[in-house]
Amino acid sequence: MQPQIQIFFLLFLFLVGFAAAGNLQNPDFESPPKNVSADSSNPFVTLNENNTIPGWTFQGTVSYVTAGPNISLPDNGHAIQLGEDGKINQTFNAGADFMNYILTFTLIPGGQNCSANANLLVSGSDTQGIYSFKQHYGKEAWQSYGLFLGLGGQEEPINLVFESQPVESVDNSTTCWPVIDSLLLKSVETLVQGKDNLLLNGGFEFGPEFLSNSTEGILLDSALSPVQSPLRHWAVVGTVKYIDSKHFFVPHGNAAVEIVSGVSAGIHTELTLTSGSSYNLEFTLGDANDACEGEFIVQVQAGSVVQNFTVRSNGTGLAQKSSLKFDAAGSRATPIGFLSYTTIQTKDGILCGPVIDDVVLLSSSGSRMVIKLNILISLLLFLILIL
Ligand SMILES: *[C@@H]1O[C@H](CO)[C@@H](O)[C@H](O)[C@H]1NC(C)=O
Ligand SMILES: *[C@@H]1O[C@H](CO)[C@@H](O)[C@H](O)[C@H]1NC(C)=O
Ligand SMILES: *[C@@H]1O[C@H](CO)[C@@H](O)[C@H](O)[C@H]1NC(C)=O
Ligand SMILES: *[C@@H]1O[C@H](CO)[C@@H](O)[C@H](O)[C@H]1NC(C)=O
Ligand SMILES: *[C@@H]1O[C@H](CO)[C@@H](O)[C@H](O)[C@H]1NC(C)=O
Ligand SMILES: *[C@@H]1O[C@H](CO)[C@@H](O)[C@H](O)[C@H]1NC(C)=O
Ligand SMILES: *[C@@H]1O[C@H](CO)[C@@H](O)[C@H](O)[C@H]1NC(C)=O
Ligand SMILES: *[C@@H]1O[C@H](CO)[C@@H](O)[C@H](O)[C@H]1NC(C)=O
Ligand SMILES: *[C@@H]1O[C@H](CO)[C@@H](O)[C@H](O)[C@H]1NC(C)=O
Repeated sequence: MQPQIQIFFLLFLFLVGFAAAGNLQNPDFESPPKNVSADSSNPFVTLNENNTIPGWTFQGTVSYVTAGPNISLPDNGHAIQLGEDGKINQTFNAGADFMNYILTFTLIPGGQNCSANANLLVSGSDTQGIYSFKQHYGKEAWQSYGLFLGLGGQEEPINLVFESQPVESVDNSTTCWPVIDSLLLKSVETLVQGKDNLLLNGGFEFGPEFLSNSTEGILLDSALSPVQSPLRHWAVVGTVKYIDSKHFFVPHGNAAVEIVSGVSAGIHTELTLTSGSSYNLEFTLGDANDACEGEFIVQVQAGSVVQNFTVRSNGTGLAQKSSLKFDAAGSRATPIGFLSYTTIQTKDGILCGPVIDDVVLLSSSGSRMVIKLNILISLLLFLILIL
């Protein structure tokens, strides 16, 4: 092995070991509860005091779910249903260094022809989210969501809790209780501003982990604070879909954002800029190649400048670069935001919308080109020095 390769390999091992901190046990419920057979013919086995779910504690009415004709699951295996007062929790330890923990989970409707769908409450150390089936944003019956759980470090325990929340119903016998499956935990370090972009996470590469074989992306519900958002450093208004390049057309890198919930939904952030200086905001708008056809209007805000951009999409994957110049004013934080002004549905009736990616903010005096040249020159100097 060449020394460089060895170093790279060691670094890789280090990173893999590092990522192992904060793992969940039995995250897909494939290890069956004690006293329950994994190949049970009953799709919903209600657990009793003699059952324990490996890795988890449960309370109330909780059932072990097996995929079959009566319920379809993302992994065709097993899941957990939270019935009346149903609750499960698991504590994981944060690593030594402070990290932001983001959860991906899948919510599955727990039956058909329900008069009401009970809500699912998910909580971590700093935040919680309430989920229910109101709208479909994909082809499958189930939907995956991303939730920011909190900032954790120094090996401190973080308790992840899922519980059902009843809703008013005329007939409780046809209340469908939520089913959960396919949990993934991701830790993201605190991001620092780089020279090639004043915005943090402008390419949207830092967000919830994608389920490797799901073609549906991950839904992000409203997150009012950019700090407590699963899309790191961006607040979410309405519902957006976090999409991966493996299953969607993504203009840049591995991930992008599709604004799916229609008018006045979007993302925004803010940062402190030098008052009186000129800045340039570059961004890419397009479509995700998910049959979303139509004319998207996206309102882009950069400081006090607000402008509409129109994208004509035939739904087959499009990336259109645009930019906006503005002057930073006052000492207040400068808002940067993208808001959709259109509701579009595919021919199958699935809500969809414009894709946003590769948002770069630079001072007008230092354009991206200059910085790229600088990096090249530094690299050349470095090579000359080591040779
Ligand atoms: C739990 O196990 C005990 C001992 O085997 C048994 O007596 C009891 O009936 C079981 N409880 C349920 C709810 O099955
Ligand atoms: C279930 O577990 C309890 C306690 O762990 C045990 O006493 C009981 O015999 C088990 N029942 C079955 C049906 O396996
Ligand atoms: C599946 O659902 C149908 C309709 O509700 C029911 O009649 C049937 O018993 C269920 N199958 C199983 C294995 O529970
Ligand atoms: C996803 O992958 C799992 C195993 O990795 C497999 O069992 C399952 O069928 C896959 N699901 C889909 C929707 O392809
Ligand atoms: C679940 O939470 C309770 C406290 O609410 C805690 O005692 C228990 O250890 C937790 N279970 C797991 C598996 O972490
Ligand atoms: C739900 O309703 C449809 C259409 O009325 C029916 O075919 C199906 O069997 C029902 N499912 C259940 C589980 O009752
Ligand atoms: C349905 O369940 C809820 C919560 O458990 C309860 O408040 C309500 O009274 C029930 N409704 C009926 C009609 O039983
Ligand atoms: C952008 O378009 C929407 C919808 O047509 C409109 O309500 C909004 O005022 C426009 N914004 C600007 C800055 O023109
Ligand atoms: C969609 O647009 C692209 C480029 O804008 C074009 O190459 C392609 O032929 C169009 N497809 C359809 C079905 O119109």
